[in-house]
Amino acid sequence: MRAAIVGTGGIAGICHLPALRAEAHRVRVVAAVDVDAERAKDFCAAHDIPAAYTDLGEMLAEARPDLVHVCTPPHVHAAQVRACLEAGAWVLCEKPPALSLAEYDAMTAAERDDGPYAAVVYQHRFGSGARHLRRLVTDGELGRPLVAVCLTTWHRDQAYFNVPWRGRWDTEGGGPTMGHGIHQMDLLLATLGDWAEVRAMAGRLARDVATEDVSVASVRFENGALASVVNSVLSPREESRLRFDFTEATVELSHLYGYANADWTYTPAPHVTDEARVAAWRTQDQDLPSSHAALLADLLDAYERGDRPQTSGAGGRQTLELIAALYKSALTGRPVRRGDIDGTDPFYREMNGGMDL
Ligand SMILES: NC(=O)c1ccc[n+]([C@@H]2O[C@H](COP(=O)([O-])OP(=O)(O)OC[C@H]3O[C@@H](n4cnc5c(N)ncnc54)[C@H](O)[C@@H]3O)[C@@H](O)[C@H]2O)c1
Repeated sequence: MRAAIVGTGGIAGICHLPALRAEAHRVRVVAAVDVDAERAKDFCAAHDIPAAYTDLGEMLAEARPDLVHVCTPPHVHAAQVRACLEAGAWVLCEKPPALSLAEYDAMTAAERDDGPYAAVVYQHRFGSGARHLRRLVTDGELGRPLVAVCLTTWHRDQAYFNVPWRGRWDTEGGGPTMGHGIHQMDLLLATLGDWAEVRAMAGRLARDVATEDVSVASVRFENGALASVVNSVLSPREESRLRFDFTEATVELSHLYGYANADWTYTPAPHVTDEARVAAWRTQDQDLPSSHAALLADLLDAYERGDRPQTSGAGGRQTLELIAALYKSALTGRPVRRGDIDGTDPFYREMNGGMDL
């Protein structure tokens, strides 16, 4: 396969390139694009990539990649993803995939039934710890899910927001709910399934930004479970945390930007006394950290089979819909049910529904 990278900034070099290198036996990086010509040239020279471009259309026409990694700021994702799909390339797009549900739907409308597809970087679904938990949940081994806690309590100082696209609705699509908590919420949904209703509050408490710098929400799931969610960039001791209380066990994950098996704990309920059963919960056959590499391997497997990748289409939309609903609830002061935000809703077109916080 021939791959290209668009946007040669931070995440492209730190996460996408190592992931592509780890798959060198089946994918070759043939081009990179950045509006900053020097940056594109330096990136290509540093990583032995044959062709640097400043124009996406030109790259698509000349380099003809099979897969494009979109690593640009959020406000250009939708148009770039669409251009790649229309040129016949599969896409792996950084989060958030689009600024709104409307943009997401317009961009994925360029997919075809048998590909190309556009997948979103929700890397925390792909570590062995999350896959193991999902298997246990699907098998009914942990019983019924009852309670969950989902924290993205991170710290970003004011200087972080000096990058022009950060902290604005029109370029980032939101604050920590959209930009940071999206990963933990995605893993929450991947574990518990469809959400039913959300009630939320958001505030701008300490940073000079146009969006929120903290949000809190209560989420009810279709299966009846209740979850509490916090998304913050104001938290000096940083943590990414998920806790699930099932009838048979509490499952906890504590990490920051990525987890390994050791970051998961399983605590049996008092009535669970079968030690072999508990040992099986705690035992995994591999230790694959959550990472862009784990996600890319899964995507390339899907490509080789001709299957839709997990985080594309509806699988990439569900977390965005929860975020849109969270913002709508916070800004209107009302509960929002899944499906409430239809094509006529202002929160379909913009994450803040055109309102000020
Ligand atoms: N998955 C994760 O864990 C994770 C972590 C950090 C960032 N991200 C996401 O990755 C994306 C990029 O973030 P970053 O921190 O690398 O940003 P960055 O500012 O470091 O890099 C973005 C690059 O895109 C280039 N660019 C801007 N507009 C362009 C255009 N129209 N065409 C081509 N190139 C263009 C810029 O010149 C820059 O080099 C964002 O969507 C961000 O939310 C994801």
